[in-house]
Amino acid sequence: MDIAINKRILLAVCGGIAAYKSAELVRLLRKSGAEVRVIMTEAAQQFVTPLTFQALSGHAVHTALLDLTQEQAMGHIHLARWADCLIIAPATADMLAKLAHGLADDLLSTLYLAAESPVFVAPAMNQAMWHKTVTQENVAKLKQHGVSFIGPESGEQACGELGFGRMSEPAAICQTLLNDSTSGALQGVNVLISAGPTREPLDPVRFISNRSSGKMGYSLAQAALDAGANVTLVSGPVQLTAPAQANLIKVETALEMHDAVMSQIASTDIYIGAAAVADYRAAQVEAKKIKKQQDDNSVIHLQKNPDIVASVANLANKPFTVGFAAETDELESYALGKLRSKNLDLIAANYVGQAEGGFDSDRNALYVYWADGQRHLAMTDKQQLATQLMSLITEKYHEKNPT
Ligand code: C5P
Repeated sequence: MDIAINKRILLAVCGGIAAYKSAELVRLLRKSGAEVRVIMTEAAQQFVTPLTFQALSGHAVHTALLDLTQEQAMGHIHLARWADCLIIAPATADMLAKLAHGLADDLLSTLYLAAESPVFVAPAMNQAMWHKTVTQENVAKLKQHGVSFIGPESGEQACGELGFGRMSEPAAICQTLLNDSTSGALQGVNVLISAGPTREPLDPVRFISNRSSGKMGYSLAQAALDAGANVTLVSGPVQLTAPAQANLIKVETALEMHDAVMSQIASTDIYIGAAAVADYRAAQVEAKKIKKQQDDNSVIHLQKNPDIVASVANLANKPFTVGFAAETDELESYALGKLRSKNLDLIAANYVGQAEGGFDSDRNALYVYWADGQRHLAMTDKQQLATQLMSLITEKYHEKNPT
C-alpha cells in the first residue's frame, strides 16, 4: 500500500455475497491511514454481521434511517457531511436502480442524496444482471451524475457463471481510492491500450500466433477506467469480455492492430502497448489451404511486421508511451535497451517461462523502468498489478505533463 490517504471514508455495504470482501476493504483502508465508518443495508446483514464491521472500523455500524439511538450518535445528514468520500461496495443492481432514480427509502439511498462528496461504486452481481440494458442505463445515468465506478471484473461468479459482475478485489478498490486522493487521477485523459496476441494467417485455415491471454491489457483498461480515463482498447483475439465502458476495437493481425492504433493516436494522451504483437507475418498468404508436400521439410517465408509501440513513440507529437518486455533472462538490460531503442517513456518488464507469472497466467510481477528510475511491483494477481502499474503510469504521465 503506498500512501496514507488520511481520509474519512464512508463505506456502504449492500446485500451480496461479496459483502465479506468489504471486511478486508475496511482493514486495508485503515491500514493506509483512512478513518472508516460503515453503513449496512438490511440485506447486507444477512451476509455479514454489523459486529464484524464494528470490530474492523472501530465504530458503531449504522443500519437504519429511522432509529433514534443511531440518529442521536451521528445522524444520516451529519454522516454524509463527515465523509470525504462514499464508497458503496458491494453495490447491488437494486441499489444502482434506486440511486439512479433518486429514491430515498432507506439509510443508504437517503445518505447518497445528502452526500456532497465524491461517490464510488463497486458493483457485484450476476453477469446477466450486469449486462441487462436497464442496469447499463442506470450505470450510465449514475456516471452522468458524477459517480465513479470501480469494476465489476470478469471471472467466476458465486452463482457458478462466468463473466462480468464480480466485485473488484478490496486491494484494487483501496488503490483506486488512494489514487483519487492524489492529483494523479486520469479524469478526462484519453488512454489507448493494445492487448492480446495477433494472428498472422498462412492460408485460409492456419495462422501463427502466441500464448498471450490479453489479461494484463484488459486489467489495465479496467484500472484506467477506474482512474477516470476515457479508454480505447484495441484487442487481438482473446477469451475475455472487455469492460463495458471501454471503446473496443477488435483486430486480428499486426497490420490491423497497427492501423487501428494509428487511427486513434492523434487524440491519445497515454498509449500502452500491452499486446504480444507477432514480429513476423507470412510473406505471402495462400488463397487456398497449403497441401502436404512430399519433402520432409517445408519453408515459410516471413516478413517483418511494423513495431507498433516504436511507431507511436517516434511520432513528432507522441503520447506518453508505455511498452512491455517479456524476457527469459537479463531482464534489466533488455528492458532498458528497449526503453531507449523504441523511444518509450516507460517499460514494464517481466520474466516469462518461469514457474509463476507471465503469459496466460493470472499472476505476474513487474520490473518497471523509466529514464531515471525504476520500481519493482511484487508478484500478485494481474488486476491488482494493473492497478499498481496504472498508478505509476499516472504519476509519471503527470510529471511529464504538469497542468
Ligand atoms: O521487441 P519486443 O517485441 O520484445 O517489444 C515488446 C514491446 O513492443 C511490447 O510493448 C509490444 O506490444 C511492442 N511491440 C509492438 N509491435 C511489434 C512488436 C512488439 O508494438 N511488432
